[in-house]
Amino acid sequence: MNSNADDSGAEILANPTELAVAPPNVPRHVAIIMDGNGRWALGRGLSRTEGHRRGMEAVRTAVETSRELGVSYLTLFSFSSENWSRPPLEVQFLFGLLRLFIQRDLAELHRNGVRVTVIGDRVRLTSDIRSLLDKAETLTRDNKGLRLVIAFNYGARDEITRAVRRIGEDVAAGRLSPDAIDEAAIQSRLDTAGMPDPDLIIRTSGEMRLSNFLLWQAAYAELVFVPAFWPDFDRAAYLQAVEEYARRVRRFGGVAARRSG
Ligand code: FPP
Repeated sequence: MNSNADDSGAEILANPTELAVAPPNVPRHVAIIMDGNGRWALGRGLSRTEGHRRGMEAVRTAVETSRELGVSYLTLFSFSSENWSRPPLEVQFLFGLLRLFIQRDLAELHRNGVRVTVIGDRVRLTSDIRSLLDKAETLTRDNKGLRLVIAFNYGARDEITRAVRRIGEDVAAGRLSPDAIDEAAIQSRLDTAGMPDPDLIIRTSGEMRLSNFLLWQAAYAELVFVPAFWPDFDRAAYLQAVEEYARRVRRFGGVAARRSG
């Protein structure tokens, strides 16, 4: 890591251990679109599934680096509601990786105080996956460390549609007046209810779009697009993305500049 002293305070990232204690420019909520597993593998003459397997290792590194930095929420886009259109074997493999991740890593995540939350539509998931996800959430519910949010079978339009449907049900049942429908009413019915919006959204692999990820929550997020494919997104790449974030000036629609973090 370079020690780039500039007025953003980003030079403190040169010593991330210190950062974990006093994180002036560390985003509270980082969300990542983990893209490029397939291209990473194909470029090496490997199968796409091997790319996903290596992608899971990068997930572990991202969790560790988030803890080291003092990030409070890490949201990972692991399977989108559009990913069903992939070949069935690849879909099966991605489900297998989720299973493996929870079976192998849950105990250590729990030991490290990580609280696991899953967002997305669970209705289409098989009951064994659903109960694994429930188990991960229940076991870690009271943990106070990093909140690891796994977006699985997640699509932002679907999430917003489900929230609107609930509002409709509440109005129809007389529990909610149409006049009382405000941003908070919508927010509180999203899968991310109670969580802060992401400050920083990172997408790997050089693609520059949100692909139906956290569309409501991304309103004021800083977007950082990284050329590396996801399996190559290591600690140094993560720190660089946070450095880039720390250099940004956020205005939240107003004129007064607010430093990131
Ligand atoms: C995008 O790469 C990646 C995915 C669709 C899956 C991401 C899954 C993991 C990183 C592993 C599982 C993680 C957990 C937490 C269980 P791509 O296949 O779209 O790559 P390409 O654009 O190069 O084809």
